[in-house]
Amino acid sequence: MILVTGGAGFIGSNFILDWLAQSDETVINLDKLTYAGNLQNLVSLSGDSRYHFVRGDIGNQELVSGLLAQYQPRAVVNLAAESHVDRSIHGPEAFIQTNIVGTFRLLDAVRVYWLALDEPAKSNFRFLHVSTDEVFGSLEADAPAFTETHRYQPSSPYSASKASSDHLVNAYYKTHGLPTLVTSCSNNYGPYQFPEKLIPLMIANALSGKPLPVYGDGRQIRDWLYVLDHCSALRRVLEAGKPGEAYNIGGWNEKPNIDIVHTICTLLQESVETSRSADYRSLITYVTDRPGHDTRYAIDAQKIERELNWKPGETFESGIRKTVQWYLDNQGWIANVQTGDYRLWIEKNYTRSVYENTAVR
Ligand code: NAD
Ligand code: DAU
Repeated sequence: MILVTGGAGFIGSNFILDWLAQSDETVINLDKLTYAGNLQNLVSLSGDSRYHFVRGDIGNQELVSGLLAQYQPRAVVNLAAESHVDRSIHGPEAFIQTNIVGTFRLLDAVRVYWLALDEPAKSNFRFLHVSTDEVFGSLEADAPAFTETHRYQPSSPYSASKASSDHLVNAYYKTHGLPTLVTSCSNNYGPYQFPEKLIPLMIANALSGKPLPVYGDGRQIRDWLYVLDHCSALRRVLEAGKPGEAYNIGGWNEKPNIDIVHTICTLLQESVETSRSADYRSLITYVTDRPGHDTRYAIDAQKIERELNWKPGETFESGIRKTVQWYLDNQGWIANVQTGDYRLWIEKNYTRSVYENTAVR
């Protein structure tokens, strides 16, 4: 079995649903259920004996050690993090605690567990740390895309905390020989993304006739990857990645933010019967820029293609169409997140006894 952290978040819930659709290997999901954790994403797994949820913090070393001893996973996939750049500007503390201190405590508990394993379990074990292209900082317009050896130059408290966690993971490989893998992925989009991030926020606001807030001039470039392509890349890295190595994951889809917003408006215009005579584009509102805003990210994903034979399955055009349709079909999901009802649902549906461990720090 595998232990996934942060499995109630956007990428984590897609990863678990996808994992269990492809294999019968049991998944333990350790998640603290911050505002970003939504167990409704995984409701289709209730009663599935291949899935266990544990509410808890990756920084709770005692809890993590107990879970490792109890379940004896062959791998840990670390997706737990504070992930939103804007929140890291206003409240960096949680980012330091989870992304740096939490990753350190998780790593150390894993090191102790791993050291005590017998061969071949010891050499087959993997710690996969899911990181981001943001650790590399901002690219000039004409600069080549980030390779795995690009200099770390993070700009925000979020990316600095992720960079720090990457360094800790690499140190545990070099110092202790823990078989680690680090992946750096570009911007994900798709189902179950919290509507504070660009794509779901624009869809949700457009559907309720609210302004579409574009930071600065909207010319900043991100490199977009459909979330299920990220999940398939993570499975491939876990299966065939070389311990101690880093792999960039990306979709070769560089787009300026304003183009993304226009595409969303066009797709909504095609799909939604609306009495509004105005175009969704009329909702676009340019707002004050994000401080320290990185102007461009671009991932060079040649290494993972060459060494692990992985390529994305979706183009941006196919992925964004699926995504807009998913949010149109799941407006109740958006409403539950926006009203906070998903948290009430957690309280209603998950009594203390359902949690195998409620020790949230
Ligand atoms: P998310 O914010 O949607 O989900 C994070 C999850 O982690 C939530 O379920 C939350 O409850 C949980 N969590 C937070 N702190 C925790 C703690 N201390 N202990 C246990 N659980 C905790 O994030 P996401 O977008 O799914 O990102 C997942 C990972 O992928 C993050 O490490 C992020 O840095 C990385 N990443 C994200 C993207 C992207 O575009 N979203 C791109 C590249 C890398
Ligand atoms: O590159 C990978 C990263 O992508 C991940 O590591 C992060 O966890 C993830 O949140 C994402 O970071 P970004 O800052 O790129 O994503 P966000 O959706 O917040 O913003 C995308 C771009 O859109 C960015 O240039 C800022 C801009 N933006 C964002 C919001 C929320 C706007 O113009 N308006 C907005 O309202």
